[in-house]
Amino acid sequence: RTRAQPQPPRRRPEYVPNRIDDPNYVRIFDTTLRDGEQSPGATMTSAEKLVVARQLARLGVDVIEAGFPASSPDDLDAVRSIAIEVGNPPPGDDGGAHVPVICGLSRCNRRDIDAAWEAVRHARRPRIHTFIATSEIHMQHKLRKTPDQVVAVAREMVAYARSLGCADVEFSPEDAGRSNREFLYHILEEVIKAGATTLNIPDTVGYTLPYEFGKLISDIKENTPGIENAIISTHCQNDLGLATANTLAGAHAGARQLEVTINGIGERAGNASLEEVVMAIKCRGELLDGLYTGINSQHITLTSKMVQEHSGLHVQPHKAIVGANAFAHESGIHQDGMLKYKGTYEIISPDDIGLARANEFGIVLGKLSGRHAVRSKLVELGYEISDKEFEDFFKRYKEVAEKKKRVTDEDIEALLSDEIFQP
Ligand code: KIV
Repeated sequence: RTRAQPQPPRRRPEYVPNRIDDPNYVRIFDTTLRDGEQSPGATMTSAEKLVVARQLARLGVDVIEAGFPASSPDDLDAVRSIAIEVGNPPPGDDGGAHVPVICGLSRCNRRDIDAAWEAVRHARRPRIHTFIATSEIHMQHKLRKTPDQVVAVAREMVAYARSLGCADVEFSPEDAGRSNREFLYHILEEVIKAGATTLNIPDTVGYTLPYEFGKLISDIKENTPGIENAIISTHCQNDLGLATANTLAGAHAGARQLEVTINGIGERAGNASLEEVVMAIKCRGELLDGLYTGINSQHITLTSKMVQEHSGLHVQPHKAIVGANAFAHESGIHQDGMLKYKGTYEIISPDDIGLARANEFGIVLGKLSGRHAVRSKLVELGYEISDKEFEDFFKRYKEVAEKKKRVTDEDIEALLSDEIFQP
């Protein structure tokens, strides 16, 4: 099988904070508006965040991490507006079945948790996400706390968040990728007892390798008492370019929530990108034990463009899934293959991500293009010329193509208007 096969629509399981209805369903937690916004230069206004949040809801994400309310009064307002509007959708085509969870980040202290709750409590499904570092390097140099003190704070703050009336509390041991395993099992067990419903495992500095991160998730699943009552989540940064691979390894090992951002934006080298993770699951789901998400992938292209516009962070042309070249073909061999059967060089149909290409086969003419593609372009433009004329034309085409990055329709028209082709 070379192209993603259309999958029969599957029911999005009913949302219950600490229950997994369908063990194969993977929740998509989008943190574009929180971790993504932490990218240098990506700050968005409240109005922009609201526009992006509406689009994330259309895309079908399960959780929108809308911001870090304690970081500024503006961010608190932005998260609150998102909770009020996007977190309370009117019944739509789906009868209002899909209501995204609206989440706010907080450190493990009362002031942050109060701010997060004040912002998200207006949503139908509010969540507080609280975190504290658990690696030796962070506890010693940043927090200046002993491991026992860290456990005590985590336990107390998760219980505090629950005591406010928040039924859905996520806990993250920051820098889990570099934390001691036994200590992780211990702190996770304690926060589960205190009421955490999702346990997010961040590879905060993008340090782990895919097999290593997968093993971390399966070890946590096996060794943490009470873990069966919670959802395990991944949060992979991209410092070594491994965020998507690590996220998929985590899903394969048992994580059922994946934290991602549109276009992979985020701190430093960014986060796992939503479009890569979702399309990998859609395309290769059978190798991932039949996992699936509730994302409507046809909204991917539009969402990516909106985030580029509002964050000011533009993706490189060769960015997987959403880059300008991701569905473009220039070499003669590839163009010939595409013209014969699209599955030769495309594993995903552009329709699947809502991409309307300028031409059906995604062919971009350049110096590597061959006769088949150039001839097809002539037909597309409405020209019929004899084989002999075509050979002359093709020679001249190659001369022009050598000097240009791309050969446009106008170049073709100009070549055809040369004397030699005039009656
Ligand atoms: O990278 C990280 O560790 C985080 C946590 C707050 C989840 O962003």
